[in-house]
Amino acid sequence: MNSPKHIMVTCYDATFAKLIAETGAVDSVLVGDSLGMVIQGHDSTLSVSMDQIRYHVAAVARGLHKAKVEKKPLLIADMPVDSYNTIDSAIQNAKSLISVGAEMVKVEGAVSDRVAALKKEGIAVCGHIGLTPQSIQDFKVQGKTELEAQRLLREAKDLSNAGVDLLVLEMIPSSLAKKITESISTPTVGIGAGVYTSGQVLVLYDLLGLNPDFNPKFLKKFMNGAESVSHALKSYSDEVRAEVYPSEKNSFKDV
Ligand code: KIV
Repeated sequence: MNSPKHIMVTCYDATFAKLIAETGAVDSVLVGDSLGMVIQGHDSTLSVSMDQIRYHVAAVARGLHKAKVEKKPLLIADMPVDSYNTIDSAIQNAKSLISVGAEMVKVEGAVSDRVAALKKEGIAVCGHIGLTPQSIQDFKVQGKTELEAQRLLREAKDLSNAGVDLLVLEMIPSSLAKKITESISTPTVGIGAGVYTSGQVLVLYDLLGLNPDFNPKFLKKFMNGAESVSHALKSYSDEVRAEVYPSEKNSFKDV
């Protein structure tokens, strides 16, 4: 039998971290620089700083700590753009993320020299190839030509040989994801990469269906979050205006 799929979701705060951990259903949480888009409202991940990732990693670590389960998801921190341009900055910034609770760091692109240096320092690393939003802002499927597919396969092999512990494959054809997964010993984690990867990752707010305007082909919304949130807020407003809430049972007595 195949080994169980690695389940990864993004997470940016303590409340969700605790909830996710207590499902027992998730292997790793990623404090992704996607927070620049889903939390901060930017159109790309490029404005996210080290301080901001550190802030969210610390919050997620506190949430995981409070979870009443023995086995917690692995906490992975994205290294933001320009935080690993050199080997020295990669090591210094990765250590800074680990000091606030990260157990693994994630880097984008063909950076096997930095991966090797981080691994030498004993730091666990997740790679990320295909659509890498720190360098590609055109959100299109990657690796569709033979030349591009060969380049991505080569990058995957280099990163695997450098020691990455996980490799995210984003927005590539499923046949290429299959070939990469079969060619390297590192487990692959797909997003928009089909079914043949060793695991899957989704942005938490996307899988919860919180953004009705975001509907890429690869996404399945496992909840209609936008509708549920909107319904709850309207009910709250209606009940306050109708003086139904707060009721006696929500009110404090004199004695
Ligand atoms: O930043 C992020 O959330 C990511 C995942 C989509 C893999 O890189």
